[in-house]
Amino acid sequence: MGAENGKAVLFLLLLLFWFCGSTIGLLSPKGVNYEVQALMGIKASLKDPHGVLDNWDQDSVDPCSWTMVTCSAENLVIGLGTPSQSLSGTLSSSVGNLTNLEILLLQNNNISGPVPPELGKLSKLHTLDLSNNCFTGEIPSSLGQLRSLEYLRLSNNSLYGAFPLSLGNITQLAFLDLSYNNLSGPIPKFPAKTFNIAGNPLLCKTGSEQGCYGTVPMPMSFNVNFTHGKPPLDWNTRKRIALGAGRGLLYLHEQCDPKIIHRDVKAANILLDEYFEKP
Ligand SMILES: *[C@@H]1O[C@H](CO)[C@@H](O)[C@H](O)[C@H]1NC(C)=O
Ligand SMILES: *[C@@H]1O[C@H](CO)[C@@H](O)[C@H](O)[C@H]1NC(C)=O
Ligand SMILES: *[C@@H]1O[C@H](CO)[C@@H](O)[C@H](O)[C@H]1NC(C)=O
Ligand SMILES: *[C@@H]1O[C@H](CO)[C@@H](O)[C@H](O)[C@H]1NC(C)=O
Ligand SMILES: *[C@@H]1O[C@H](CO)[C@@H](O)[C@H](O)[C@H]1NC(C)=O
Ligand SMILES: *[C@@H]1O[C@H](CO)[C@@H](O)[C@H](O)[C@H]1NC(C)=O
Repeated sequence: MGAENGKAVLFLLLLLFWFCGSTIGLLSPKGVNYEVQALMGIKASLKDPHGVLDNWDQDSVDPCSWTMVTCSAENLVIGLGTPSQSLSGTLSSSVGNLTNLEILLLQNNNISGPVPPELGKLSKLHTLDLSNNCFTGEIPSSLGQLRSLEYLRLSNNSLYGAFPLSLGNITQLAFLDLSYNNLSGPIPKFPAKTFNIAGNPLLCKTGSEQGCYGTVPMPMSFNVNFTHGKPPLDWNTRKRIALGAGRGLLYLHEQCDPKIIHRDVKAANILLDEYFEKP
């Protein structure tokens, strides 16, 4: 291949990356969408008696047609909401790999085990509701790193240990509900004007002490309908992708407007052929 051809290929590749940047960014070296992997990790550690996660499928190109999953226009996972679905089991630490997540709603289930410290990696998270579950252990101090967090509800669990001082670092926090756990003091100065820490016997024995409630009335839990996703891929596309080889490239070819890498662009064709010949 001559130098000119090489330059042409490079240019086309740059174009391709520019058009499909978000897609490529999501593919791990094996061509598997890392958000699919993270969600499959979450599914694997949950018990799902009503099968609400049944259409979560390891071989999906992206998880955007899955129930309870919301994607951005760029097909990034920004919301996961499975409130009141009778889920039990534990919350996998792989939730920390959903780095685009903005909303996580798992309230009113029977999920037990610890609150994963990896949640602290979700820098875009603004709403976190794990209330009315069976979470145990301490509230991870890593939650203090969530500088986008505005709404935090961990009420009605079995959390114990010190009230995390790091929560005082979340300047955006407008709503904080840690009520009905078993947390102990001291209580740091925290920014949320709307808060509830009643029902923690070591903090607010009767619930009528000063500082157990904020002044503003508490809004109800979020009630967002997450059951509809984007229309699923047609069967042929799914089958081809499920067949495996070159999954990432097939995805590019199917989903990215193929104009850029069309048949009459020779250098790009050579590039694709070479890729398939030497996998
Ligand atoms: C949690 O489990 C208990 C007993 O296993 C059951 O009675 C209760 O309805 C469950 N709660 C939810 C929200 O699924
Ligand atoms: C998060 O993603 C990385 C890289 O894709 C992977 O190595 C790691 O196992 C994942 N972590 C979890 C907890 O799933
Ligand atoms: C949380 O627990 C308290 C005390 O058991 C109960 O009064 C309250 O209704 C519960 N909150 C919810 C939303 O279930
Ligand atoms: C709050 O943030 C500051 C600066 O990032 C850090 O030094 C401090 O340790 C944090 N406090 C807590 C309690 O996490
Ligand atoms: C709360 O925690 C204290 C000390 O950690 C413990 O003695 C007490 O039994 C706990 N209460 C409940 C209801 O779990
Ligand atoms: C959620 O949306 C789906 C599909 O749009 C609809 O069938 C279902 O009734 C909605 N559920 C609730 C609780 O609104």
